[in-house]
Formats: sequence, structure tokens, C-alpha cells
Amino acid sequence: MKNILVTGGAGFIGSNFILYMLKNHRDIRLVNLDLLTYAGNLENLRSVEGDGRHIFVQGDIGAQALVAELFEKYDIDSVVHFAAESHVDRSIEDPGVFAQTNVLGTLNLLGCARAAWENADGSWREGVKFIQVGTDEVYGSLGATGFFTEETPLDPHSPYSASKAAADLFVAAWHDTYGLPACITRCSNNYGPYQFPEKLIPLMIHNACNRQALPVYGDGLNVRDWLYVEDHCRAIDLVLQKGTPGEVYNVGGHNERTNITIVREIIALVHDKVDPAVDERLIRYVADRKGHDRRYGIDPEKIGRELGWRPLVPFEKGIEMTVDWYLQNADWLRDVTSGAYLDYYDKMYSGR
Ligand code: NAD
Ligand code: DAU
Repeated sequence: MKNILVTGGAGFIGSNFILYMLKNHRDIRLVNLDLLTYAGNLENLRSVEGDGRHIFVQGDIGAQALVAELFEKYDIDSVVHFAAESHVDRSIEDPGVFAQTNVLGTLNLLGCARAAWENADGSWREGVKFIQVGTDEVYGSLGATGFFTEETPLDPHSPYSASKAAADLFVAAWHDTYGLPACITRCSNNYGPYQFPEKLIPLMIHNACNRQALPVYGDGLNVRDWLYVEDHCRAIDLVLQKGTPGEVYNVGGHNERTNITIVREIIALVHDKVDPAVDERLIRYVADRKGHDRRYGIDPEKIGRELGWRPLVPFEKGIEMTVDWYLQNADWLRDVTSGAYLDYYDKMYSGR
């Protein structure tokens, strides 16, 4: 039986990870610590309500006493750390909470893991592991050619990616200084069910379905490397089981697309599936994101060679499944886009 502390398990990737793990492993207990910020939603986990292998705790990863208590109470032997402020645009507006959660929150988890797992002689309890769920954004921006490898120097540009790079460096320091068995994953852009509609793909689906303007930053030619969320979850599971402590694993599926290509694909799907009135006249080119990274592209060779991972969901299939999911879950979308969401968007787009 593994007792895994999953942080941020009510968010987009964290909730997909919990659903994936419960489906694919019998002997696990997942303790899900999530503050339920605007991005966390227990509706994402409704299908596993009543499954005793999942225990939800509402709280802050930065709360030392709470995290220490969870390690002890549930005999935690692994941490999969998703919890973060994750949206680049918000980090440009309000960077402080990114340092608080992404850096100091991670530091607190590391301190609690050490207190629970390090033996008096400096060795570590058998079988423990800490997985830091990182991002390719820490590598900065690529030119027209080349890919991010695990050796690419860190060069973050946004407050979000700076905070994630700092968190990664603390995790690496805990491994190098104290010997914490830790791995870092760095994944490209995810898409799929339960993604909060402030990120490109769900925002465009939401707006297209409501015949609202589709805001494309700058010239629309920035490139992102898209991965279906379940493929990312499988990669994290493999790193948890077989990843070598101290190593970084890049995760991505060579699925690069310009933003405008993505927007056009979503328009076509919504047009064909539900609303023939939706077309490219909804596209609005708006002011560019400050410090906007031009291109991300992951080289996933290492995780393929060492752990046997490869993506299983081709983009054309994944994007259609995703549009279908949002169409079938209009209640979820309506619930998460009420209240504070609307205030945020009024602020974001005033002046654009
Ligand atoms: P998300 O914003 O959807 O979810 C974040 C979750 O963390 C939410 O449930 C939120 O309530 C919780 N949280 C925030 N602050 C907290 C705190 N102080 N204590 C406890 N919980 C807190 O994010 P996501 O897109 O699911 O990303 C998850 C992780 O994966 C992040 O670390 C992100 O950097 C990383 N990542 C994301 C992507 C992507 O494309 N979305 C790609 C690579 C890596
Ligand atoms: O690469 C991994 C990262 O991917 C994760 O670490 C982040 O948590 C995640 O948010 C994501 O960051 P991006 O900034 O790449 O994702 P976002 O969906 O915000 O934007 C994708 C691209 O689309 C980016 O070039 C900006 C552009 N964009 C975004 C929005 C929200 C638009 O053109 N219009 C929009 O309205």
C-alpha cells in the first residue's frame, strides 16, 4: 500500500491524476491537500466520491503544522506536488501569491518531508519519493529551431515561471544537500477535461460556444507544444514508480501548434458540432502578453528511453475529445465561470 500526498488534487492536472491513479492502481491511498482557490473544484472529483482510497483535506501547502500532521497521520511515503498558482497572466498582474504558494509552499513541503522521512543518521526511509511537477516554461523561449532538453539552462521570463524555477531549484537542493529522493518533471502545455477556462483551449471553447470574441494575443504565431492531460498523468506515475532520484524528466509529445491554428481548430469543431453561426469572425487580435515567450518545444527522448513513456493520444483526437467534454459538461463550465471569474475577465480585457 502506497500513501501518496497529492497537493493541488482539485485542480486541472491534479484531479485528472487522482482519477487516473484510482483507475489504474488498487493498493494506494491518495491524500489530496488543496486550498480550493478559484482554480480548485471538488466537482472534478465527484465520480470518485465515496472511494475510501481518496481523502480530501482543504488546506494550504504552506501551513507547516497541517502538512506535518498529514505526513504522520497517513504515514505518507510519496509526495506528488501539483499545487501552484499556474496562470501566467495572473502572475503578471499579481506576482506576490506566486512566490508565496509556488516557492514558499514548496519549501514548506520539503521541510515537512525531511522531518518525516530523514533518519537520525542522515539516511532516508526506504521507498520514499518526492515528485515536483514542474513546467517547460522554466527553460524560457526557443527560436525557430531546437527543443528543450533536461540540460537546457533555466531562463524563466514571467513571474510564474520564475517562481516555478525557484521551486525546482529548492527541490534539487534538497536532493543534493540532504539526499531527499526527488525527481522533477517538466511538461509542456496540457489540455483536456477540467481545465479552468482562463487557459487558451478551454477559454476558446467557452467563448466560441457563447458566440463571444476569441482574444488572440499579439500576432497569434506564438507556438506551444500540446499534450493530452492523461498522457502527462501516466508520465508522472512512471516517474513516481521508476524515476531515478535526482533526475529531471521532460514530458511532451512533439505537438507544436501556433495559437491561431488552435483557435481555428476549435472554431471548426464548435461550428460543426453545435453552432453553424460560429466562425472566424469571432477572432480578435488583442494586445500581446507582456514578456510573451515565443515558442516552447520539448524533447521527450529521455523519459522515452529510460522509463518507456510515450504519448498515446494524438492531438486531433485529444482536441475533439476535449471539445466534446466541455459540450457535455456545460453545468461545470457555467459554475466555474460565475462570480470572481467574470470580475477577472472584465479587468483583463478592459483596455485590450
Ligand atoms: P491549476 O491552477 O488548475 O490547479 C492548481 C491547484 O492548486 C488548484 O486546485 C488550487 O486550489 C491548488 N492550490 C493553489 N494554491 C494552493 C495552496 N497554497 N495550497 C494548496 N493548494 C493550492 O493548475 P494545473 O494546470 O493543474 O497545474 C498543476 C501543476 O502542474 C502546477 O504546478 C503547474 O505549474 C504544473 N504544470 C501545468 C501545466 C499546464 O499546462 N497546465 C503544464 C506543466 C506543468
Ligand atoms: O508550458 C506549460 C505551461 O502552459 C504551464 O506551466 C502553465 O501552468 C500553463 O498555464 C501553460 O502556460 P501558457 O502561458 O503557455 O498557457 P495559456 O493557456 O495561458 O496560453 C497559451 C498560449 O495562448 C500563450 O501563447 C498565450 C496565448 N493566449 C492565451 C490566452 C489565455 C491567447 O492568445 N489568448 C488568450 O486568451
